[in-house]
Amino acid sequence: MSQVAQAPSSSAAVNNSKSRQPILRLVGIEKVYGTVTNPLTVLRDIKLEVQEGEYVAIIGPSGAGKSTMLNILGCLDRPTRGAYFLKGDDVAQMNDAQLSHIRKTRIGFVFQSFQLISHLSVLENVELPMFYARISKRQRRKKCMEIIERVGLGKRWKHRPNELSGGENQRAAIARALANDPAMILADEPTGNLDSATSTEIMSILHELHDSGRTIVLITHDQEIAAAAPRRVSLRDGQLDNDTHNQAPSATEVHP
Ligand SMILES: Nc1ncnc2c1ncn2[C@@H]1O[C@H](COP(=O)(O)OP(=O)(O)OP(=O)(O)O)[C@@H](O)[C@H]1O
Ligand SMILES: [Mg+2]
Repeated sequence: MSQVAQAPSSSAAVNNSKSRQPILRLVGIEKVYGTVTNPLTVLRDIKLEVQEGEYVAIIGPSGAGKSTMLNILGCLDRPTRGAYFLKGDDVAQMNDAQLSHIRKTRIGFVFQSFQLISHLSVLENVELPMFYARISKRQRRKKCMEIIERVGLGKRWKHRPNELSGGENQRAAIARALANDPAMILADEPTGNLDSATSTEIMSILHELHDSGRTIVLITHDQEIAAAAPRRVSLRDGQLDNDTHNQAPSATEVHP
């Protein structure tokens, strides 16, 4: 059995057969950059529901608005128009402190460029979200070491990012995303800087996190990764253009 599958049960883990309510609901979302005289509309009339425990790949050409949409989903950015409900709560009504609390407690981010802090060790990077959540040092250390083991970095916890491979950096970034036990992981091209073998390892960690009940929304340009996702949403010129559900892939397809 894999490291992640053996993880202690998480408060985020949900029984997929439980009544399914949307964890995310976008209604008529629009995002406009630029100025009043020279507006650039990058998202238009986006309607999307994601159920708790779903695994969704966002695909589409460069510039289609994928990262913009993920940043809105992650409360890193606000839409210009439209409504975003996160577990039924209207994000537009929240102030910056409430949004920051949501980012810290409900959402784990994984980025293509890892975005680890270079002068901190793996352990210190993974600890940061818990530090900001004011969790005691003793509790932080214990939980972070468990998570670091789960992503297969048990022997690398003292290392800094520049002493690790790309795959190890991404494992550390996933561990950091898991620090506050978020129900939802948002990943923007998490394998974009990795070779194909390492990508497969990182994807199997994300699939296992999904199997343990987390909602995963990831952007990818990789057709194989998109094909393995149970659901694919494609964006084109800022609009949703396709939303397809696969039949559930077999265990061997997901974890070869
Ligand atoms: N802060 C910004 N100000 C102005 N325009 C922006 C800003 N952020 C993104 N854009 C524009 O919005 C459009 C969508 O960008 P976005 O990053 O969401 O695309 P993407 O689908 O993620 O592309 P890629 O696959 O290349 O990452 C692009 O035309 C981009 O130039
Ligand atoms: Mg992008």
